[in-house]
Amino acid sequence: MDFCGAHIISVKQFERVDIDRVFQVADGMEPYAHRKRITKVLDGAILGNMFFEPSTRTRVSFGCAFNLLGGHVRETTDVKTSSISKGESLYDTARVISGYSDVIVMRHPKVGSVSEFAKASRVPVINGGDGPNEHPSQALLDLYTIKKELGSNDRAIDGMHIAMVGDLKHGRTVHSLSQLLLVYDKIRFTLISPKELCMPAEIVAELKAAGHEVIETEDMEEGLTDNDTVYLTRIQEERFTNRLEADIYRGRYRMNRAIYTRNCAPNTVIMHPLPRDSRAAANELDNDLNQHPNLAIFRQTDNGVLVRMALFALILDVADRIDQSATDVGWYTESRFE
Ligand code: CP
Repeated sequence: MDFCGAHIISVKQFERVDIDRVFQVADGMEPYAHRKRITKVLDGAILGNMFFEPSTRTRVSFGCAFNLLGGHVRETTDVKTSSISKGESLYDTARVISGYSDVIVMRHPKVGSVSEFAKASRVPVINGGDGPNEHPSQALLDLYTIKKELGSNDRAIDGMHIAMVGDLKHGRTVHSLSQLLLVYDKIRFTLISPKELCMPAEIVAELKAAGHEVIETEDMEEGLTDNDTVYLTRIQEERFTNRLEADIYRGRYRMNRAIYTRNCAPNTVIMHPLPRDSRAAANELDNDLNQHPNLAIFRQTDNGVLVRMALFALILDVADRIDQSATDVGWYTESRFE
């Protein structure tokens, strides 16, 4: 794909060579993300960070990624404090914000909203999550993490076994990650969910058509065996009609140190897009795994900055100019990156 000026709406835009390019550029971002070097390559550029649904990681890491490239960030954080609450259309919002910004990241609860917004925008738009549909930058950072984690002991994405656990119906991260993996070879997917929250049939059909093996089960402990990666998800309460309906499923699947040790192969990487629901009734990923070396959740969030920097650099066509005018950091930093 031609990244320059492109909207990033769906993982289906990415061929394998495009994913490799994003990862190559992301690797080069490490000194900047890790505060060893400073670049001003996006000096003067403005990111419109338009979030109309709650977020911590996606909003802040896109903002940090842009700042780390030398750009400035302007943002909304919800519908209530934006003029969408006064009835303004996505078209008008896109026309206005694209006059203020050089690139836009948008999150919105409605499926297809970011694509609709992008059609009216005069600058590139990145999908930060459109309802239960897609979350492409999360899928890229998840896959980047999987590549690094498996690569550290000579495993590869092709041929890997991955289990996805939880609310696979509403989880946009598992939808995007599965579909990003369509361009790889011979992956075994074990999809663990209540029947009512299973992976959409069209995604399962696409995985099978691409030559992947798909096992669907409600039995978590059975599904956990013999995987390279276990990817846990939260019950997406905000997609249910009410809290009581979500309560039916909350807490059904839980990962903790005892369950991990009993069922998972020794090198199984533990992932979660976060936020994890740490309330007692849910607790799908227990704190007793926090110090476990195979818990990759905070490496995922750190990798998110690298991948989002790479997306900005490619879309704004500065990927080959990052090092020009770069300087060493002149202020105190302490290494906190694994
Ligand atoms: N993973 C993710 O999308 O997290 P946030 O909702 O906090 O952005």
